Amino acid sequence: MRICILGGDGYLGWPTAMYFSARGHEVMVVDNMAKRGWEAEIGAKPLEHVPALKERARRWKQKKFQPIEVVIGNIADDGQLMNGICHDFRPEAIIHYGEQPSAPYSMLNQENAVYTQCNNVVGTLNVMFAMREHCPQAHLVKLGTMGEYGTPNIDIEEGWLDVTHNGRKDRVLYPKKPHSLYHLSKVHDSHNLEFASRMWDFRVTDLNQGVVYGSDTDEIGNDPELCTSFHYDDVFGTVLNRFVVQAAIGMPLTVYGSGKQIRGYLNIRDTLRCVELAVTNPAGRGEFRVFNQFTEQFSVMELAQRVRESAAINGMKVEIQHLRNPRVEQEEHYYHAAHSSLSSLGLEPHLLNHEVIGQMLEKAMKTANRINEASILPKVDWKQGWQAPVTGLSTAVPRLQAVRA
Ligand SMILES: NC(=O)c1ccc[n+]([C@@H]2O[C@H](COP(=O)([O-])OP(=O)(O)OC[C@H]3O[C@@H](n4cnc5c(N)ncnc54)[C@H](O)[C@@H]3O)[C@@H](O)[C@H]2O)c1
Repeated sequence: MRICILGGDGYLGWPTAMYFSARGHEVMVVDNMAKRGWEAEIGAKPLEHVPALKERARRWKQKKFQPIEVVIGNIADDGQLMNGICHDFRPEAIIHYGEQPSAPYSMLNQENAVYTQCNNVVGTLNVMFAMREHCPQAHLVKLGTMGEYGTPNIDIEEGWLDVTHNGRKDRVLYPKKPHSLYHLSKVHDSHNLEFASRMWDFRVTDLNQGVVYGSDTDEIGNDPELCTSFHYDDVFGTVLNRFVVQAAIGMPLTVYGSGKQIRGYLNIRDTLRCVELAVTNPAGRGEFRVFNQFTEQFSVMELAQRVRESAAINGMKVEIQHLRNPRVEQEEHYYHAAHSSLSSLGLEPHLLNHEVIGQMLEKAMKTANRINEASILPKVDWKQGWQAPVTGLSTAVPRLQAVRA
C-alpha cells in the first residue's frame, strides 16, 4: 500500500514508518520538526540523541529496506501541503500522528493552548479537504486518545453510545469530558472527522490510544541511528517512561496526588501492531470507526509499585513520593473502558511485566549521563499555568512540594 504518515519524526511516527516499510509498503513521512522546537522551548531533551529525520531515513535505506520518503512541511500552516501530497502520492492510507501531543504543554499558557488547538484542529481539517479533493477513497487512521473520554461514572464504549431518551433510541458519539485543552483538540478532531464520514463518505478510524511506554521495536533493534524520541520530562514524558528514568537515577518516583488515577496503557510495539490492524482492515465508505487502543489499565500507584519491584529485582532501591497534584482531575473514580475491537482483529498484546520494565531500566541506566533531573518534576499547574520562567527551566525551582513520603 501507499501509506502517508503525518508526524513521522515523532516518538510513534518514526517507528511506524519503519514498521510499514519493513513489510514492503511504500511509505512517505511528513513532519515540520515542531517537536524539536517545543523541546528547545521548554528545555527538555529525549533520553537518547535522535538523529535528524532525513539521516534516519538514509540509515534505513542503507539497511536495504524499502526507502522512506521524507517531506518536511507544516500540515496546519501550509494549506496546500496536503493537497500536493494527496494529489502526487495518492495515499491509500494516511496515518495521522502529526499533532501537539502534550496535555501540560497545552495548559502552560494562553499562547500554547491556542497553538495546540489551531495546530491540531486546522491540520486535520487540511487533511480532510485534501482527501476530499484528491483521494476520497483513502482510509484515514487518526490518532486520538483515551483521555478524550475523561473518567465518566459509566462504562466507556468504543466511540459510540446507544441512548434511549424519552422512549426513543439513537446512537450518538460518546460524550467526552477531557481533562486538558490538548485532549479537547482531539475531541474537536473526532467531531470533524465523523462529520467528514457522514458528508463525504470518508473511511475513518479514530484510534483512542492509551498511554504508550517503551522505545524498543524490532526495526530499531540496537541501532542508535534509528532510535526514537523517548521523553521522560514532565511535559512530553508519559508516566511509565518517566518513572523508569527516575528509578534509573535513584530519584523517588513522583506520583501526582494519591496516584489512584486509572488509565489505559500499551507497549509501543502494540501501537505499531494496532495501527497495522487498522490499516489492513480499513473502515468502510462513510464509516467513522472508533477503537480504544490500549491493552491494560493501571492506577498510577500500581505503575509506581511495579517499577519499584522491577528495580528491586535489579538490585536497586527506589522510593515513591506523592506530590500535590498539579492537574485538575478526579483521583478516585470508576474506570471501565471497552477495548475489544483490536483484539477481535488479532491483537496479541505485549503485557507489562518485570522483564519489560527491566529492559527499560537497563536502557535508561546506559544513558543516565544525559538525564536532566530538573526536567522531571512538574512545572505546569492546571489552574495557574507555568510555575517557573519559560527559559532556563533546568535551573528553575519547582513550586510543587512533596506532601507526604
Ligand atoms: N505517546 C503517547 O502516549 C500517545 C498517547 C495517545 C495518543 N497519542 C497521539 O499519537 C500521536 C503521536 O504522538 P507522539 O507521542 O509520537 O508525539 P510526537 O510529538 O513525538 O510526534 C508528533 C509529531 O508530529 C509533528 N507535528 C506536529 N504538528 C505538525 C504539523 N502541523 N505539521 C507537521 N508535523 C507536525 C511533530 O513535529 C512531531 O514530530 C499524537 O497525535 C498524540 O496525540 C500519543
